[in-house]
This record gives sequence, C-alpha cells and structure tokens, in this order.
Amino acid sequence: MPDDLSQQKPNEDAHEQKRTSWVKGKEMGGKIMGWVLALMVAILALCIGFSFKSRYPISSSSPSPQQKLFKVDELALYNGTDEGLPILLGILGSVFDVTKGKTHYGVGGGYNHFAGRDASRAFVSGNFTGEGLTDSLRGLSNAEIKTVVEWRSFYQKTYILVGKLVGLYFDDQGNPTKHLKGAEAKAARGAQLLKKQKKEEDKLPSCNSRWSQGEGGEVWCDDGFPRLVQRPLEIALTGKMSKRCACFREDQLGEPGLEVYDGCDYQAKTCRV
Ligand SMILES: *[C@@H]1O[C@H](CO)[C@@H](O)[C@H](O)[C@H]1NC(C)=O
Ligand SMILES: *[C@@H]1O[C@H](CO)[C@@H](O)[C@H](O)[C@H]1NC(C)=O
Repeated sequence: MPDDLSQQKPNEDAHEQKRTSWVKGKEMGGKIMGWVLALMVAILALCIGFSFKSRYPISSSSPSPQQKLFKVDELALYNGTDEGLPILLGILGSVFDVTKGKTHYGVGGGYNHFAGRDASRAFVSGNFTGEGLTDSLRGLSNAEIKTVVEWRSFYQKTYILVGKLVGLYFDDQGNPTKHLKGAEAKAARGAQLLKKQKKEEDKLPSCNSRWSQGEGGEVWCDDGFPRLVQRPLEIALTGKMSKRCACFREDQLGEPGLEVYDGCDYQAKTCRV
C-alpha cells in the first residue's frame, strides 16, 4: 500500500464513526491507530471467512477463465436478503463475492448498502442515500478516485472476484470501457502526486497536534514554531486548496507563505486551533 497522506486506508471500519475522544501525536498520528484497527478487522474478517463456505456456483480452486457478466437487475438479487444466495458487491464494475463478510454486508450490516450493486462513489463520499449509491465518479478528485481503486484492491485481496457488471465500466463483451481506463489513469496520477507531495512535505516537519471534545485542539512544535502553509500539490490532487501545520526554525520565519495561527503569538510554540 503506497504511503498516503490524506486518505484513509481501505478497511471495513473506515466509514464507521470513530469514538476516540482524544487524538494525540503527529498530524497524522491518529492514522496509526486506524491502521492497527484495520489489521485487527482484517484478521477478524479472515476468521469469519473460514467459518463460511462460499455458496457461489463458481469454485475458487478452479476459477472460470470466463467470468460471469452481470446485468444491474441480476446483481441486485444478491443483496443479502435471500439467505440462500451469496452476497455480491460491485466496485468499478468488478463483482466480488463478499458472503464471508456477511456481518458487514448482510441485512443489518453496516455495509449492506454496498450489496447487490456497484456503489463505487459511496466508498469515498460516504453518502449511502439515494443517488449517493452510484457507480459514477464524475467530479471526484484524482486522490478520491485513487481511494476507490484502493478499495477495489482490498476486495481483490480479501474476497473472490466472480464477474463483471455490464454498464459504466465494462461493455457487454466484458471489455473495460473508457470510463474504467480513465478512472485507473486518474488514480495513478493521484498516487504519483501524493508521493511527490509527501516527499515535499517530508522536508518540513509537521506539527504535533491533539484534540479533545472538552478542550478543543492545539498544535505545537518540539523544535521551532508552528505555521500554516499551503500544501503545494493539493489543487492538482483534490481540486481544493488545503493547508497544513509545519514547524519552522526562527531563521525561516520570514519566508513567504507562512501564516501565524489566529490568536497565536509570533513566537509561540503551541497554538490553540
Ligand atoms: C434484494 O434481493 C431480493 C432477492 O434476492 C429481491 O427480491 C429484491 O428485489 C432485492 N432488492 C432490491 C432493492 O433490488
Ligand atoms: C447524498 O446524495 C444525494 C443525491 O445526490 C443528495 O441529495 C444528498 O444531499 C447527499 N447527502 C449527503 C449527506 O451528502
């Protein structure tokens, strides 16, 4: 998994509310906890996996070279309501059997809205209502599309690919469409930019930060002074401007583009945010 500054690593808990009330550490330090959680979930998912036998007619030991082509209506039957059918999910037109993750994808599971359809967009929008459950990625940034592609990799690693959904991403012959190729190209571009951004940002140490419901947030530098700076590649990545907190030495404070936190002293090492 490539280093990733602004996106959550795919795991099945990613969309659930984090209830941690005190996040402490480097700017992205909270992510580490998230990754540990992700690992635990993955292990759990595996354990669950062993206790379920896939009931999908395609055997995993001898995968059919010609995978099944699904129509939208057909895929909809595998939404988890019929206990006798496997649970299927589409992402970027690839269809996976997620029956072994029944607790997530079955009726009442937190991910049930992904079952029986391709809701690629919802993996990044988190919008599980109405038209939010669409396969269209129109208007999403390269970084967001990269996240969707990473989710597909997650399913490739964790579940069994059983076919393709005829529609936006595959034609009725099962060939990838220009939409699929376009999404993959954008994701690759996003990955490239994120790597470059990380390299740039590694030159300037990030501030420490913490936040609690009671006390609000603060940023501080062990060495140097906290300043807000523009993230150089953010526009290309997300289409939006975004700033981060970095630590500067005293002799760098005159550089252009450094912003003192509102209500914070020029020479303060800690600022409330
Ligand atoms: C869910 O699947 C069942 C049968 O498996 C089907 O009868 C029902 O129409 C499906 N629901 C939707 C919203 O497609
Ligand atoms: C989800 O998507 C629908 C349809 O595009 C939209 O009407 C709704 O406002 C969205 N909800 C959220 C929380 O973004």
